[in-house]
Amino acid sequence: MTVPLEVVPASREHHAAFARFFAELGVEDPLPDPDRWERELAPGTFFLAEAGRLVGYAFLELYGARGYVRHVVVAEDARGRGVGRALMEELARRVRAAGATRWELNVKRDNRPAIALYERYGMRTEHVTHVVRLSLPGVARLAGCARPVLARGVAPAADAEVERAFHLPDGKLARLRSLAGMTLVRLVEHERTVAFARFDPRYPGCFPFHVEAAELARPLLEQLVPLCPRGATWIQLVIEADEATTGALLAAGAQPVFEILHLAGDVPAA
Ligand SMILES: CC(C)(COP(=O)(O)OP(=O)(O)OC[C@H]1O[C@@H](n2cnc3c(N)ncnc32)[C@H](O)[C@@H]1OP(=O)(O)O)[C@@H](O)C(=O)NCCC(=O)NCCS
Repeated sequence: MTVPLEVVPASREHHAAFARFFAELGVEDPLPDPDRWERELAPGTFFLAEAGRLVGYAFLELYGARGYVRHVVVAEDARGRGVGRALMEELARRVRAAGATRWELNVKRDNRPAIALYERYGMRTEHVTHVVRLSLPGVARLAGCARPVLARGVAPAADAEVERAFHLPDGKLARLRSLAGMTLVRLVEHERTVAFARFDPRYPGCFPFHVEAAELARPLLEQLVPLCPRGATWIQLVIEADEATTGALLAAGAQPVFEILHLAGDVPAA
């Protein structure tokens, strides 16, 4: 059944509605305050209204030829009657309008309704992302690294190299840098980037956390531990498509928190 729905662009006054939908995602990220939401998320956000009531919410980021679907939520009492499909149709229209041909997203492995919705739109699992939590003393249990690595910040001049090294979309680092309160850290070996993390002191944790080889996890974490707020006992890491590093962290006592599937596909034609 198709329901008549109106697309509503996001504006500052929608922060309370956004907060209700955001809570449905079941993520640990702190709720962005109205200023941050208006600046960083609202430009890529739209709602769907049914008879004047907001029943659907989606947040999209665009990186060149790739559309990154960040959030898709339908109000609980409006599920199972096509609002999710309508959100995907509008997202596809926006991705196509931006000239992109691929779209992708992350979804928790146990979220069957959402995975079924995304597969219906041609998306397929590309890799698994592990979210793990390592106690701060656990960093010393990781194998040491003898490679001559040096810690560096990430100036804009290094963005393209880091994005290439870890298959990040063009413009991703500029986007991460624009978010308030985050630190970007990398390790270089003979001036070549071999590890990169975006650290958020609020968890505290890293998303993303990329290393060229598992042995680089320890020197990268040694840069991040001093940035953890006083009283923190663990650091949370989101590790994409890297089973070796995940295994090394689990062997050092890290606790698995949850798993995420990375889905991607061609955007369906209009
Ligand atoms: C996932 C979600 C957006 C689906 O919205 P919805 O409006 O119920 O979806 P629709 O009614 O448009 O259904 C579209 C498709 O989704 C899938 N789907 C929806 N609910 C499902 C369920 N309970 N079980 C299995 N598949 C389901 C089906 O493939 C369905 O296709 P069909 O209609 O041909 O059967 C909604 O359940 C939701 O908001 N969940 C909470 C937030 C969330 O987890 N978002 C995803 C984060 S990545």
